[in-house]
Amino acid sequence: MSAEPKPAVNRRVLSGMRPTGKLHIGHYVGALQNWTRLQNDYDCFFFVADWHALTTDYADTSRVKSNILEMAFDMLAAGLDPEKATFFIQSHVPQHAELHLLLSMMTPLGWLERVPTYKEQKENLKEKDLNTYGFLGYPVLMTSDILMYQASYVPVGEDQVPHVEITREIARRFNQFYWLDQQRKFSHDRALPEEKRVWVFPEPQPLLTPAAKLPGTDGRKMSKSYGNSILLSEPEAEVRKKLKTMVTDPARVRRTDPGNPDVCPVGDLHKIFSTPETMAEVRQGCTTAGIGCIQCKGWVADSIVSVLNPIQERRRKYEQDPKLAWDILEAGSVKARAAAEATLVEVRESMDMSLSYQAPEKNGE
Ligand code: TRP
Ligand code: SF4
Repeated sequence: MSAEPKPAVNRRVLSGMRPTGKLHIGHYVGALQNWTRLQNDYDCFFFVADWHALTTDYADTSRVKSNILEMAFDMLAAGLDPEKATFFIQSHVPQHAELHLLLSMMTPLGWLERVPTYKEQKENLKEKDLNTYGFLGYPVLMTSDILMYQASYVPVGEDQVPHVEITREIARRFNQFYWLDQQRKFSHDRALPEEKRVWVFPEPQPLLTPAAKLPGTDGRKMSKSYGNSILLSEPEAEVRKKLKTMVTDPARVRRTDPGNPDVCPVGDLHKIFSTPETMAEVRQGCTTAGIGCIQCKGWVADSIVSVLNPIQERRRKYEQDPKLAWDILEAGSVKARAAAEATLVEVRESMDMSLSYQAPEKNGE
């Protein structure tokens, strides 16, 4: 019989986001909505991954602090509740760095070079020199974030799943070398039978965010770098203006041509933001050329604006007093440090590197 995997602590959930500044509606439907649901049922840790931002943007750090705050405003406005979830800043929990260092010692280079985003991003971001140790080690940093809280579930998008996979592999590797005894203490017995070993790290699972197809105004995936996004903080007039120029079903050249909402990016937005009744009217009107695209875009603007209104209402509080958001993040970081240090105590113990005094072994013992 092999050792029991460690039972997960309180069904913990962990996820993070790089501080990119103001968030758009794609972040909302792709992540934030899911986070605010999870915080009701799990012990959630959500954080701003500012060290991760440095893996690609180390050369200019002047925007990091304001990006952290702008993103925090949006997250809090979207419903992330610091009473329910621990909301913190990665760099305020230096334990992440210690765990990153320890795990880097045992992570084979080949595993990192095989991560799909590694070669891809290096190709795509030609203007930055990504031939760095930190960029290659990015998945180890992400592994530390996850294992730090002994999380069972990691809500992420499809693109991040290989990173959670590598996290599982690194956890398994650590558990092969180090373990605790059943009192959760280092047993000083490398020959402790497997069934008596207790693992420090559970293997986390990705919680795939159901990927709603959220196109930007040009029909491509919504992304800040494409300039096709609608921000959560976008004023109503701006939302309407952007939607007016959004691309539609190319088959509808003239007002009298019927269209198909299933191949139209505006139709995709309706599916996410509009009520079933409105969606039915869109389908009926579009396929019979009963409505024009301008009218249809007006309806989708109404739907989006009604979702954004309460978010923007909550956001104003933080815009007027940004320190409020900072204080929430600092209080969250205090809680996160306590949870992180509890894990590190076990990690050091399992590696026989605890901070407490121990007499040297005598010869022959
Ligand atoms: N790598 C993630 C991204 O770019 C952000 C991230 C960092 C993360 N650490 C994490 C996500 C830990 C989940 C868990 O989106
Ligand atoms: Fe798209 Fe609406 Fe025009 Fe149909 S009516 S093509 S769904 S914008």
